[in-house]
Amino acid sequence: MTTISIAISLLAAFSFALPVTDESRGHSSAFSPSNRPLSNLNRTLNGVTPGVRSRYTVRAKLVDSNITEIESGVKQYSGYFDNEEEDKHLFFWFFESRSNPKQDPIVYDVSGGPGASGVAEIFGNFSAASYTNSTIIPQKISFHNYASMLYIDQPINTAFSHSKTRTNNSIDAAHDLVGALTAFFEHFPEYSTQEFHLHGVSYAGRIIPNLAHQILSIPAAERKINLKSIMMGNAMIDPASQSTGDLPTVCGKAGYPALATAEQCKAAEPSAKACATEILKCYDLPQNQVCKLPDSCDPARILFGNAGRFTYDMRKPCDPTTDACWTSKPAEYIKFFQNPKIVAAIGANGTFEDSSLSVMKDFSRIMDGTKPYHRNLPGILQQIPVLIYNGDADFLCTWLGGLATAEAIQFPGKDDFKKAELKPFSANGKEVGQSKTAHGLTFARVYQAGHGAFVYQPEAASVMVRSWFKSRSISSM
Ligand SMILES: *[C@@H]1O[C@H](CO)[C@@H](O)[C@H](O)[C@H]1NC(C)=O
Ligand SMILES: *[C@@H]1O[C@H](CO)[C@@H](O)[C@H](O)[C@H]1NC(C)=O
Ligand SMILES: *[C@@H]1O[C@H](CO)[C@@H](O)[C@H](O)[C@H]1NC(C)=O
Ligand SMILES: *[C@@H]1O[C@H](CO)[C@@H](O)[C@H](O)[C@H]1NC(C)=O
Ligand SMILES: *[C@@H]1O[C@H](CO)[C@@H](O)[C@H](O)[C@H]1NC(C)=O
Ligand SMILES: *[C@@H]1O[C@H](CO)[C@@H](O)[C@H](O)[C@H]1NC(C)=O
Repeated sequence: MTTISIAISLLAAFSFALPVTDESRGHSSAFSPSNRPLSNLNRTLNGVTPGVRSRYTVRAKLVDSNITEIESGVKQYSGYFDNEEEDKHLFFWFFESRSNPKQDPIVYDVSGGPGASGVAEIFGNFSAASYTNSTIIPQKISFHNYASMLYIDQPINTAFSHSKTRTNNSIDAAHDLVGALTAFFEHFPEYSTQEFHLHGVSYAGRIIPNLAHQILSIPAAERKINLKSIMMGNAMIDPASQSTGDLPTVCGKAGYPALATAEQCKAAEPSAKACATEILKCYDLPQNQVCKLPDSCDPARILFGNAGRFTYDMRKPCDPTTDACWTSKPAEYIKFFQNPKIVAAIGANGTFEDSSLSVMKDFSRIMDGTKPYHRNLPGILQQIPVLIYNGDADFLCTWLGGLATAEAIQFPGKDDFKKAELKPFSANGKEVGQSKTAHGLTFARVYQAGHGAFVYQPEAASVMVRSWFKSRSISSM
């Protein structure tokens, strides 16, 4: 399950306050993030200057599913997006929709981490297949039923992607992806007219707002990327707003029993507030300046750490003295990507690792997790709809924090969105979550799901995706 490795790295990149590893330091809480316009996010596009042809080219091969046993009978390509000038090579795997590839939307499933393999997402629970005991079993309930799916190992030096240079922040990672996506649609014009959407979980909440902003900054007449919406799940979008969900969640306000006493909760309030000030200071530093957060900043994370629950799914017990409650074992599917027969069949180069620690450390060093990339969202909402959803049993990115993130977006629909009430939605007659929509912005809570709702509740995911494609809101199906 890729989501787990994504989350491990997310943890380090944010420097959460838990006595687990050297990487774990203070993480802040905040209340009302300031939303000053951020001119330093408005750089000239690197891979694609508006109006100028991408410097990426495509090296693709038709994948023989008789060898890989993944998505048999479905047309699929894999290979590299190459930027020779900068020696950047991004590995991808693309699958046509199982249904109607000429008409179905195309989704780029943006990976998290930073440094988690994107291509490994094919083994997600709502994706192509599962891989257990070296046996590949197709996922019946899947994104692939409704969309053609693109997966990319990004940023450079993640999994099968390679470069002599390095990338250490989400703006630069997004630059490379704009170049790669432009090259993709130029190389495969048969996919350029379908709707295109970005979806991603966890740390993808840092990349997607940058990526969408950069795509939409290309004048429409010159844009090769038919971007129609973005979807982010259990994502770290606005770290300050997100962290306001932590204390209420530990204290029983998220629909699950409290994991701390009322006294502990009350006592933690002032330090949660003090942290707020710190993270807001990070937001207003220049992009290149590293923001140092104080150690042990977020009291909710300490209370949670003492409660003996699993960070990505607080329904599960976890004994911190014997289990890795904030990390997880490497996934079994690594063996698939390390099999020379598979590597040759997909035209990959290099040794596969599902999560690149060095990429994660580069992003962590610059504290990419404290940058105010969410300030791109008002501009994005002027052009396309945005979906933010959360599995409600996740503690890494709580649903209360996701809701606070959505409600803090400074766009003209803000007041209406805040006033709108969460309404239940069902899958096949069973209530699976709640959602609300106003002025292009949708928030959804998915019941009984941990970090990455699609992993835990594929039926609910299926309803969300179909409903979103149809109406840009979530309703029962
Ligand atoms: C951002 O770039 C666009 C397009 O080049 C320009 O029109 C706009 O004024 C810039 N915004 C800021 C805040 O610099
Ligand atoms: C896979 O095997 C089938 C049956 O043997 C064959 O018809 C098909 O052409 C093969 N696919 C590829 C891509 O070689
Ligand atoms: C995997 O294989 C082991 C040993 O053969 C077996 O005990 C286990 O039940 C299998 N797991 C699944 C999910 O099939
Ligand atoms: C494979 O990757 C290495 C770096 O990891 C690079 O030096 C080499 O040129 C690549 N080979 C091909 C065929 O792309
Ligand atoms: C981030 O990457 C840039 C470009 O490679 C480099 O100049 C800078 O020192 C890096 N920053 C940190 C904090 O590692
Ligand atoms: C998700 O996939 C994992 C690994 O294949 C499996 O153990 C788990 O039961 C699946 N979850 C659901 C909800 O299908």
